[in-house]
Amino acid sequence: MRLESLTLQQFRSYPSFELAFGAGDLHVLHGQNAAGKTNLLEAISILSSGHSFLGAEEDDLMTWGTDHYRIRAAVRSDTGEGRTIEVVSQRLPRRARVGFVNDVRLPIGRLMGVLPVVAFLPQDLSLFLGSPSRRRDLLNDLLVQVSPEFFASFASYQKLLRQRNALLRRIREGTGRAQDLAVWEEGLAREGAVITLAHVELLKVLQLSLEEELRSLGESWQEVRLTYDRHGSATTREGIEAELAHDLLHFRERDQLIGSTTIGPHRHDWRIDADGRSLASFASRGQQRTAVLALLFLQVSYMEVRRGEKPLILLDDVFSELDQTHQERLVTSLKGHQVFLTTTHDVPGISSATVWEVRSGKVMEQPGRRMRA
Ligand SMILES: Nc1ncnc2c1ncn2[C@@H]1O[C@H](COP(=O)(O)OP(=O)(O)O)[C@@H](O)[C@H]1O
Ligand SMILES: [Mg+2]
Repeated sequence: MRLESLTLQQFRSYPSFELAFGAGDLHVLHGQNAAGKTNLLEAISILSSGHSFLGAEEDDLMTWGTDHYRIRAAVRSDTGEGRTIEVVSQRLPRRARVGFVNDVRLPIGRLMGVLPVVAFLPQDLSLFLGSPSRRRDLLNDLLVQVSPEFFASFASYQKLLRQRNALLRRIREGTGRAQDLAVWEEGLAREGAVITLAHVELLKVLQLSLEEELRSLGESWQEVRLTYDRHGSATTREGIEAELAHDLLHFRERDQLIGSTTIGPHRHDWRIDADGRSLASFASRGQQRTAVLALLFLQVSYMEVRRGEKPLILLDDVFSELDQTHQERLVTSLKGHQVFLTTTHDVPGISSATVWEVRSGKVMEQPGRRMRA
């Protein structure tokens, strides 16, 4: 997939913005801090998954002092088919978010997978040491883009979770009834089972090539395992659903006390064990980064296989954090993909990049400027 142009209206630091990217595959967005580089990648991430890859709230995405934003892109598939994708989000007169493909209005969920994207963010450099939420996002962002069924369950689960949590707090305050929890719990168990099973199966697929990928990046661990951390052990959808239903009931009292749901896939986690030990507990910074890079390549090929389309790659501020071997490997492995890379540094070693200078809401091509070795 190729992004041919991007148009923004009242998105973040861009009151009005339009850019055609031209032919090259590798686009370097160069500029100082706060120039607006990440904002551009974030806009692309919203077209792809319906939400910001930074998890930002809708209101923060609208240019300050405004009440809506628009993101529009012209894309071309690997087979040459052109399309437009658009997301419009408004706060007033009422909160609404709508998607358009070829100017046909669609529920935002139907946008999933139209523009496949894999992102690599600065917080991913410490993926295994950081909070579980980014690790969960990695799985969910991949799955919503390849499976409309997963997206439907995921969206519905989030909604049910908010409803159960709100009721838990009302019960704590004496204005809600415990027997009303059952309705939300039934749904949470049903959708939660779909999500949990999808996580487990995705990790199994990634597992298949993980060792090989790590070896090719120079790590020589004997055995590498992706492990899913969850409460429960059932392996069928029905089994997981029954376990979740049981646990939600069992932990009601604790959940009431805390005012939120403490069990379910929104609390699950995963890790990599190398030769029997968790990467987070022993691996050097360099080894952790190697593992993250391996995961990036696995996500890209998973997406490509499942969607039959090469995803766009967003690399936000990570390139200059990698050593030279990994930088070179990144560029060669992602050949043939359209890559958007933000950086505050000059990045040597890339000769074929189109370089864009980003400065206070303006983006200009730097034709004379080549990133040289
Ligand atoms: N909703 C918003 N409205 C206007 N400006 C915003 C909004 N959100 C962020 N900004 C501005 O965007 C800039 C940060 O842009 P960003 O893309 O993160 O920069 P960088 O080039 O460092 O990646 C900051 O100057 C910030 O004040
Ligand atoms: Mg940035």
